[in-house]
Amino acid sequence: MSDYILEMNHITKEFSGVKALDDVNLKVKKGEIHGLCGENGAGKSTLMNVLSGVYPYGTYSGDIVYKGEVCKFNDPKQSEAKGIVIIHQELAFLFCRLPRMFSSEMSRLRERA
Ligand SMILES: Nc1ncnc2c1ncn2[C@@H]1O[C@H](COP(=O)(O)OP(=O)(O)O)[C@@H](O)[C@H]1O
Ligand SMILES: [Mg+2]
Repeated sequence: MSDYILEMNHITKEFSGVKALDDVNLKVKKGEIHGLCGENGAGKSTLMNVLSGVYPYGTYSGDIVYKGEVCKFNDPKQSEAKGIVIIHQELAFLFCRLPRMFSSEMSRLRERA
């Protein structure tokens, strides 16, 4: 088993020919807290969107290994099920997801009633 709880290996992501991420590697050990720094457009959000499945497997190259398991997330729901949760800075994105989050919470409450 690797020392790392999370590995992002050789991640490359392009938007219509523009390389937002070019062979990026990130390794995180259990208990570590990392800050991702860079100017606007450096690719911070894109890297986190790749990690959380906002950009599904197949739309980037490279691989994600979390707790020793290769992850091929199709959407954020799948990454959340594994314990990877992203809190979005972009409010527009949050509002896109609110209806779904609200409806799943309502279903949960209905099940309990
Ligand atoms: N949905 C998108 N379509 C096209 N280009 C994008 C998109 N999202 C990000 N980019 C481009 O990818 C690069 C990285 O952006 P981003 O990850 O948002 O950077 P940061 O979060 O570090 O400011 C920038 O050049 C940005 O213009
Ligand atoms: Mg950003």
